[in-house]
Amino acid sequence: MNILHATDYTHASRLAANLIAAQITLKPDSVLGLATGSSPLGTYRQLIQYFQKGDLDFKHVTSINLDEYVGLSPENDQSYRYFMNHNLFQHINIKEEHTFLPDGLELNEKKACLDYDQIISTHGPMDLQLLGLGLNGHIGFNEPNDSFQTGTNCIPLTESTIDANARFFEHIEMVPKKAYTMGIKTIMQAKKIILLVSGEQKANIVKQALYGPVTPLVPASILQFHNDVTVIGDLAALSRL
Ligand code: GLP
Repeated sequence: MNILHATDYTHASRLAANLIAAQITLKPDSVLGLATGSSPLGTYRQLIQYFQKGDLDFKHVTSINLDEYVGLSPENDQSYRYFMNHNLFQHINIKEEHTFLPDGLELNEKKACLDYDQIISTHGPMDLQLLGLGLNGHIGFNEPNDSFQTGTNCIPLTESTIDANARFFEHIEMVPKKAYTMGIKTIMQAKKIILLVSGEQKANIVKQALYGPVTPLVPASILQFHNDVTVIGDLAALSRL
């Protein structure tokens, strides 16, 4: 496991963007596993700049996002489809038909998960998977559990995750209670993984995930078994290592 110590969020974002840019430069038809949340926003801003300068071409790139809230439409500004469109896809030349997220409007949970697994098996595995980290150790929306989930599944969100994500909604009641997420096995099949963390509030869980026991109670701890993980964090997030 590589651990890159960045001085701050901007530096961490630039390091992550550089690795993604290198991936696309070396393999223009890369399949990227992308993430939402605050952590990757700076990375996406940097990638947009590289594109605008003519240094990066997304024409042949495919992206498969980690997760989506159940019940939110792509037009809902809290949906992850909306997030990706507005924070990345609309600013680069990726083809819309090459961008995938679970279908939040498909309320038949089994079908939504099977459909997404089909997309993943058609286009995957991911060449590079970008991950953030939930305060309880979740990756994607794979919450602490008795076992590691394999394929795409529908997850009831924990109170801590609902609380953490409430900051993006007008009212906590508006945070969806369930989400579709790519499974842990799919994440582990990615050829390379970048785990991006920032802020003091992540310091404890980063330590548990990277150096604690590997357990589904801390889903990110499974990353200890992956052979190509790069952790990029600012000083605060990595302060307990
Ligand atoms: C959400 C997302 C995760 C993300 C996590 C951390 O729960 N489903 O993919 O990693 O939030 O978000 P943040 O980067 O905002 O701390």
